[in-house]
Amino acid sequence: MRKIAVVNMKGGVGKTTTAIHLAAGLAARGQRILLIDTDPQGNIGHTFHLRPAKTVQELMLGDAPPDEVIQQGVRERLDVISSNTESFSLERRLAAETQRETILARRLRRVDGYDTVIVDSSPAMNLLTYNALLYVHEAIIPVAMDLMAIIGARQTLNGINEVRELWPARPLELIAVLPTFANSITIATRAAFEALEKDTQMGAFVFRPGIRQCIDLNYAAAQRQTIWEYAPRSHGAEDYSRFVDFVSSRESATSHDFKEKA
Ligand SMILES: Nc1ncnc2c1ncn2[C@@H]1O[C@H](COP(=O)(O)OP(=O)(O)OP(=O)(O)O)[C@@H](O)[C@H]1O
Ligand SMILES: [Mg+2]
Repeated sequence: MRKIAVVNMKGGVGKTTTAIHLAAGLAARGQRILLIDTDPQGNIGHTFHLRPAKTVQELMLGDAPPDEVIQQGVRERLDVISSNTESFSLERRLAAETQRETILARRLRRVDGYDTVIVDSSPAMNLLTYNALLYVHEAIIPVAMDLMAIIGARQTLNGINEVRELWPARPLELIAVLPTFANSITIATRAAFEALEKDTQMGAFVFRPGIRQCIDLNYAAAQRQTIWEYAPRSHGAEDYSRFVDFVSSRESATSHDFKEKA
């Protein structure tokens, strides 16, 4: 089972949009997908118009097993674990637990009926984000192409590096730095591309041309649809299709390396 987190400590860079479209896009290509929201903002539930009785909070606290928090059939082959604002208190409520950073991985240990699990995260390096990174083996960093882009991306990479240092036995591979809100005619976008591609740790992972600025992505979310449902001929649909193809084409290379130890 492949597990991929979408992370950036900066807010509003397209994490949730990317997680949703990666999940929906892989499901449309025939994969069985579990999409997990670890962000207390709960935007995945908002986008898909879900009102789950139990969320990632009950799962993390051990109050409900995975099958009670997984909402099945949100789309064909796409299941979801939602989050909501109650998860803001998780950090405090889990303070006394030992090995708090691996709770999610332990709670989901027996969940294996999926081809790929996609985890959305909050714009912070908090306990839930650590749990997301310690559950997955691959990470995607969406980066909004503005003049501050490189700062948030580097901070996020530092977070990933910290996890790698603290848990060296766990593989955690960066698979893509995904430019979002890209607008080829602006100086900001060109400067951001230049800075990212010059970065020694991230340069090789920049997915060109990335996801263009596309207002339909915004409207689609407001209509509680994916871009392929709302505006299949838009730039956003085209760009996310290309990115989903890229992620699914990497599959065979990674699945060998990342066989879980029993
Ligand atoms: N390429 C794009 N072009 C235009 N709008 C976009 C694009 N990508 C995302 N958006 C819109 O920008 C807003 C922020 O995107 P999103 O919620 O995916 O960011 P995020 O990184 O998850 O934010 P947060 O850090 O708050 O969780 C949303 O309204 C979304 O619809
Ligand atoms: Mg989000």
